[in-house]
Amino acid sequence: MEKQNNAHLSWDEYDELRDPRPDNNAFDAVVERAVSRRGFLGGVLAFGSGAAVMGTGLFGSATSARAQGSTFAFQPIGIATDFDIHVPQGYQWKPLVRWGDALFSEAEGAYSPENGVQNDLSDRVFGENTDGMETFVDGDKIILAINSEYANPDINLPAETQGVPQSAEQVQMLKNIQGVTVLEIADQGEGYQVVVDSPYNRRITHETQMTMDGPADGSDLVRTNADPEGKFPKGTMNNCGSGKTLWGTYLTCEENFNGYFGTTGEREATEGEIRYGIGGEGRYAYEKFDARFDLSKEPNEPNRHGWVTEVNPLDPQSTPVKHTALGRFKHENAEMVQAKDGRIVVYMGDDERGEFIYKYVSNGTWAEGQPTDGLLSDGVLHVAKFNDDMSGEWLPLTPETTGMDIAEMLVFARMAGSKVGATTMDRPEWIAANPLRVEAYCALTNNKNRGVKPNAGGDETPVGGPNPRETNKFGQIVRWRPTGEDHGAPDFTWDLYVMAGNPSVYDNKYAGSNNVNEGNMFNSPDGMAFSSDGLLWIQTDGDDSNAEEFKGQGNNQMLIGDPKTGEIARFLTAPHGAEVTGLTWSPDRKTAFVGIQHPGGSWPDNVGKPRSSVISIWREDGATIG
Ligand code: FEO
Ligand code: CA
Ligand code: CA
Repeated sequence: MEKQNNAHLSWDEYDELRDPRPDNNAFDAVVERAVSRRGFLGGVLAFGSGAAVMGTGLFGSATSARAQGSTFAFQPIGIATDFDIHVPQGYQWKPLVRWGDALFSEAEGAYSPENGVQNDLSDRVFGENTDGMETFVDGDKIILAINSEYANPDINLPAETQGVPQSAEQVQMLKNIQGVTVLEIADQGEGYQVVVDSPYNRRITHETQMTMDGPADGSDLVRTNADPEGKFPKGTMNNCGSGKTLWGTYLTCEENFNGYFGTTGEREATEGEIRYGIGGEGRYAYEKFDARFDLSKEPNEPNRHGWVTEVNPLDPQSTPVKHTALGRFKHENAEMVQAKDGRIVVYMGDDERGEFIYKYVSNGTWAEGQPTDGLLSDGVLHVAKFNDDMSGEWLPLTPETTGMDIAEMLVFARMAGSKVGATTMDRPEWIAANPLRVEAYCALTNNKNRGVKPNAGGDETPVGGPNPRETNKFGQIVRWRPTGEDHGAPDFTWDLYVMAGNPSVYDNKYAGSNNVNEGNMFNSPDGMAFSSDGLLWIQTDGDDSNAEEFKGQGNNQMLIGDPKTGEIARFLTAPHGAEVTGLTWSPDRKTAFVGIQHPGGSWPDNVGKPRSSVISIWREDGATIG
């Protein structure tokens, strides 16, 4: 069977291969129906009794003043369509680390503009397709942990392969440039640079030895020929968003792991495989060269991926741990907060059309200096139900509520969520908790299937609640406030912080909410993080054609939102082709680190291949930047 090159597809398009829409999806009729529903915004987008606490700007007065960004410390910038980065006047940027840059001196020169990364040094360099990242401090050392989400075979492999690996060696190289990079950085007066050969520097790839904990550890579902005890999985893959524990370790979140598995023999997909989009051909032909990725040989191997994995970035000898108690799904990121009583709370999104938002709550409590044992292995996973009256509840997933054995329930968390009636969402991406008040935000990036077809488990995707638009191409950000200002509470109220849209093309709900205007419009919010001053930084991963319904939105971008007023202003535009994803800061908050994934052209070198990179951004006057 000839491997087709499907690696150029977006992950969303790859899902479509596994779970196609009906041919006659009546798209035109759906849009027409939406157009007739004017006046929508006034009704849904405010906390019921809490409208006053939302601030005054969100859906009230004219938006033109806000377009000037008067409350922010920067002058908002316009859109761009070029192959460069743009930031506001008074700010500067430069690359911090690019795909192929050496982490160890032996790999200096491993990257060339013509050939990319040399195979035999591919696990000694910074990985490709940078994504989530966090900053750590060890004495006077500054360490970053950074995800490399996936590989672009067209860029990495020789042209004659047409992006399809032809050998075990090429497969190994693709494996090596994904995963996690831990690296030390230092500023010797010319801005931050990678400390080559730092003892902290480390690559964690698809091959790195790991362990598991929690109820699915050692269960039948995670046992393989290579690991009959089901306790020693190898590798982490499709590392998308990130999280940081309160005790200073890194959480890397395994997202579209399904795409790495294929089968060399005839096989009927199981219900669980169908729900997770597993089967057929993998994106990288791994199954042809490595039995671990061949479903006909190791059908349980995919069950060992799709977890939140904890890494201690300060100990390069440490073994990463997959936390099964947090559930297996296409994890975007993991936002850790604490309940009033000291229990650990982790908010997590499952990024696929019509999937759910989850919350893990530990059974034990924690305070600074106390042991962390069991905090991410002994707890209760919950799934969100959003009600149309702007209330919501966290439905516990237990053997009693789901009728599933606990290991099965966690390995197939999506199916457990369906059983309890969770709300199907418009592709939950990053979740960010506001450091200045007890609330959390989730980017619902888009969902062209909203109101058109069910999710992969057959759950309906009705239009309404926090997913208010059919064939939602623009996305929105939902936020919730837990009852009693306690992240441990079982219920919450919610509203939409913003509905992205295009007010120059539409005058209906596809125009977006009132805090979207022609000066700040965007589509497909994805990465998000709060700066310490309580502002929400929003990164996009959407349509950058700047045409038709996306006309006027330009390249992907990063915006900054004020949760109090609703004001949103554009801070950065990415090179054409790129998404902006991943955000962290230097300890002194004078430098922001921002990830630029899958750029087009020859960014940033202006020669040879495009290189996914993390950039540094700072203010010319040396002031803090969040
Ligand atoms: Fe890796 Fe959902 O983004
Ligand atoms: Ca993302
Ligand atoms: Ca995305």
